[in-house]
Amino acid sequence: MSGFPEFIYRNDELFIESVPLKQIAEKFGTPCYVYSRNALTQAYQEFDSAFADRNHLICYAVKANSNIAILNLLARLGSGFDIVSGGELQRVIRAGGDPHKTVFSGVGKTIDEMKMALDIGILCFNVESEAELVALNHVANSMGKIAPVSLRVNPDVDAKTHPYISTGLKENKFGVPSDEAMRIYQSAHAYPHVRFSGLDCHIGSQLTELTPFMQASNKLLDLLNTVQSAGLTITHLDLGGGLGIRYRNESPPSIKEYVSALCASTQSVSQRLLIEPGRSLIGNAGILLTRVGYLKHTPARNFAIVDAAMNDLMRPALYDAYHDILPVIKDMQATTNYQIVGPVCETGDFLGHDRNLHLAQGDLLAVMSAGAYGMSMSSNYNTRPRAAEVMVDGSITHLIRRRETTEQLIGSECLLP
Ligand code: LLP
Repeated sequence: MSGFPEFIYRNDELFIESVPLKQIAEKFGTPCYVYSRNALTQAYQEFDSAFADRNHLICYAVKANSNIAILNLLARLGSGFDIVSGGELQRVIRAGGDPHKTVFSGVGKTIDEMKMALDIGILCFNVESEAELVALNHVANSMGKIAPVSLRVNPDVDAKTHPYISTGLKENKFGVPSDEAMRIYQSAHAYPHVRFSGLDCHIGSQLTELTPFMQASNKLLDLLNTVQSAGLTITHLDLGGGLGIRYRNESPPSIKEYVSALCASTQSVSQRLLIEPGRSLIGNAGILLTRVGYLKHTPARNFAIVDAAMNDLMRPALYDAYHDILPVIKDMQATTNYQIVGPVCETGDFLGHDRNLHLAQGDLLAVMSAGAYGMSMSSNYNTRPRAAEVMVDGSITHLIRRRETTEQLIGSECLLP
């Protein structure tokens, strides 16, 4: 067992659905991101069915993995989207996503992005400051439109996650404090080109407990009461994303437990519920496939230098994040303690420390749980073309992103005259 349902060892060889990973490496090369269509579909359906008959909309957080094939698959399943840039909006449209099911989050929306979203007609702007609200009201006025708005409330709740991905504490840059949100909602008449249609919060990512979600939702409900008594009609509550996944030994709530808890905590109100999951939909549906280039044994440590690096998967370098690393072909021979590192010129360029594996040059490794915030955070550091992406559907493989070429990297640069 690999511990990940769509990634299964058969006769000691690792498969994704019905396809041997070795075959994918031979056909598409390495490094390569590989996703299971089935794992993604199942995760979406678990979310959807957990809402039962509650009026809801799942807005996939595009930033987790923005490949248009993934967005298209989710759109076909009925998903909406949470975007944070004009670029992500264009991806949603290109993928056949419905703008009327799209919410726009982020602290720094530009005027051009506001115009694009108003022109296309999105479901809601999740506004993160009074200054942004003033700007949006102004842009909507200039276009003769009314902008649908939720204020993103910062509920000052400790999400108990890595500090870089905790967003709901009062010292974080996100959202507006509850009392300020209240004041803004009460002065709604000052923004005639805005319709306040929702309340929003998102407290962080990779949460492994329900309590912070409940605390945030309770704060939103308190605010809802006061906002409604001020005479505003609030039609939806957006509870954000953040449900964690198992990378190693975490035991986050299941999708069903999480959604049921959100529904239960909001059962006294009838507003449509929105959520913005990213990682919990795609994280464990994808891996990064990489090949060992060299083994290097020094008196202090043993290194396996692989062809994927921090530019392909930044999470270990950035958050000291743990990703399981599995051999594509398992054998029973004695293992050695390895540092799994990439070719990039930084000591922070590692995919895993102290992994006990039996390795030879040319072996393939699967870096697990890499579907979310893997490809979408990749870079071209060291002028490394970005990896290919492949989607597996049963016994069929689809190339959903060609490997980048060096020419694509250099082509937009110019020499001085
Ligand atoms: N909604 C908003 C407004 C967000 O900022 C995020 C993630 C999400 C939803 C989706 O959260 P999720 O369900 O994926 O936890 N790069 C980091 C994660 C950054 C998350 C940023 N915001 C990582 O690799 O762990």
